[in-house]
Amino acid sequence: MSASASGPAPHVPKKTRLGILLSGRGSNFLAIARAIAEGSLAGVEIAVVLSNVVGAPGIAAARELGLPTECFVSRGRPRAEHDADVIACLRQHRVDLICLAGYMRLLSADFIAAYPDRILNIHPSLLPAFPGLDAQMQAFEYGCTVAGCTVHFVDEHLDHGVIVLQRTVPVLDDDDAHTLAARILEQEHLAYPEAIARVVSGRYRIEGRRFVAHAAQTS
Ligand code: GAR
Repeated sequence: MSASASGPAPHVPKKTRLGILLSGRGSNFLAIARAIAEGSLAGVEIAVVLSNVVGAPGIAAARELGLPTECFVSRGRPRAEHDADVIACLRQHRVDLICLAGYMRLLSADFIAAYPDRILNIHPSLLPAFPGLDAQMQAFEYGCTVAGCTVHFVDEHLDHGVIVLQRTVPVLDDDDAHTLAARILEQEHLAYPEAIARVVSGRYRIEGRRFVAHAAQTS
C-alpha cells in the first residue's frame, strides 16, 4: 500500500480497551459510556460488557448502545472454572483494564493475578468503612454524618485494594437509607470516569497502599 501524497498516515495512539463486568442495573457502566461519548473520558473505549447474571438490565443497555456483550452464568459453577471463561473472553476482546461496575461476585486469585493492578472496583462507602453488601444502609444505620464512595484497585480481599479516589456525601437529617444511596450514586457516576482517567494516564505510582499522582510537568 502506498503512502498518500502528504506522507505516511499520522500515528493514532492506541486506546485503552475497557472490559466492564456487571451483575445488575448498570448505571455506573452507563456513566462511563456517557463520559466516553461526551469526550470527558478520552483515550479509552469499551471493548466488552460482561455479566454473570442472565437478564441483567446493564447488558440490555449495552446492547442498545451497540456494544459487544457476553454472559457467563456463575451460579452453581466452581469459581475457578467460571473465572477461567471470563478471563478467556476478556483476552479475546483484548481488554487492557477491567472495571467492576456492580459485579457482585468475588474474583478468584487466578483472575486477579492475570490482571495485576488492572482491575478497578467501585464501592458505595468510604472504605475501609462498610465493605460488603448494603454499604449505604450500614453507613446510615451506624449514624455516620459523612458517607461516600470509593474507586479502588481490586486485590484478593473484599473491597480492599489501593484507593484511587473517594468522593464524600453529607448525611442529611431528613435522609433515609434510600435518599442517601441515591446521592452517593450521583457521586459514583462522577468518581468512576475520573478514576479511570487517572489510571489510564499512567501518571501515578503506588507507594504501599497510597495512590500518588505525579506532579504536573512545568514547561
Ligand atoms: C453501585 O452502588 C456500586 O457501588 C455497588 O453496586 C451498585 C451497582 O449499581 N457495588 C458494590 O456494592 C460492590 N461492593 P449499578 O449497577 O447501577 O452501577
